[in-house]
Amino acid sequence: MRHLISPLDLSVEELDHILTLGQAIMKHPEKYTHICDGKKLATLFYEPSTRTRLSFEAAMLNLGGQVLGFSSADSSSAAKGESVADTIRVISSYADICAMRHPKEGAPTVAAMHSEIPVINAGDGGHNHPTQTLTDLITIQTLTGRLDNLTIGMCGDLKFGRTVHSLINAMVRYPNVKFVLISPKELMIPDYLRKEVLDNGRIDYIETDQLEQHMPDLDILYMTRVQRERFFNEEDYIRLKDSFILDVSKLQNAKKDMYILHPLPRVNEISTEVDNDPRAVYFKQAKYGVYVRMALIINLLGLGGEHNIRLS
Ligand code: CP
Repeated sequence: MRHLISPLDLSVEELDHILTLGQAIMKHPEKYTHICDGKKLATLFYEPSTRTRLSFEAAMLNLGGQVLGFSSADSSSAAKGESVADTIRVISSYADICAMRHPKEGAPTVAAMHSEIPVINAGDGGHNHPTQTLTDLITIQTLTGRLDNLTIGMCGDLKFGRTVHSLINAMVRYPNVKFVLISPKELMIPDYLRKEVLDNGRIDYIETDQLEQHMPDLDILYMTRVQRERFFNEEDYIRLKDSFILDVSKLQNAKKDMYILHPLPRVNEISTEVDNDPRAVYFKQAKYGVYVRMALIINLLGLGGEHNIRLS
């Protein structure tokens, strides 16, 4: 039985298999409409979500399976003090696979230790969000045709943005990927990521608070919102929330084939006028998230045939 807690739980080869399957599903979704007949996905969301929970549910329904779950801690027995360990023991007898989002870092790891079904981390605190990373990777690969030889700008809240942490962990495994990390000083990437992943891996990166200066170098611009819910102090959030707002004027010097990604939800860090720019692909990205989650569910349920994957 496999779980997906961190993007590093998948080898590059396994990642490639899942992305390839996701792309095959994207082209011919009708071929996969019964592959999960009789299977159930539980979505255990202790934190708000629109895309992750609903795209998981859409993915399972598209595959012929069924879904059950809760969308807030308040509407589950967590409100009465039930532990994650006890909850997953029970859910293991109700469903075949589960996706869990939790505000506490490591909660999906605890769940996996007590689970009899595959556990997918759907976001744990400010730590990891591996299925957003799968979504980001399939978007980049589908649109640019590659995951190597890229200069990726990451802009906004790089401290609390779990999608940023997961994406860096995943992308450093591909050759000649460079990072331009754009944030206010207070929201720079965590030390462990800088030292253990970027420095130890001898990855080419710079940290800066200048977006426009670096815009011409970027193949991908990954915008993020400032994560209000992770701040201890509302004053700090208010001071930092508008640090970077991408508008049309700031894109003047960007490459014509640069792509703008954002995990969403957006607050105001991308002006809505940018939505009409063909380089703005964040809504397409959210759509691709369904296909790659379909591929992941097939894979973790062991329904993919040879190499645990079905390519046609
Ligand atoms: N990208 C993302 O995780 O969105 P939700 O919080 O809406 O699930």
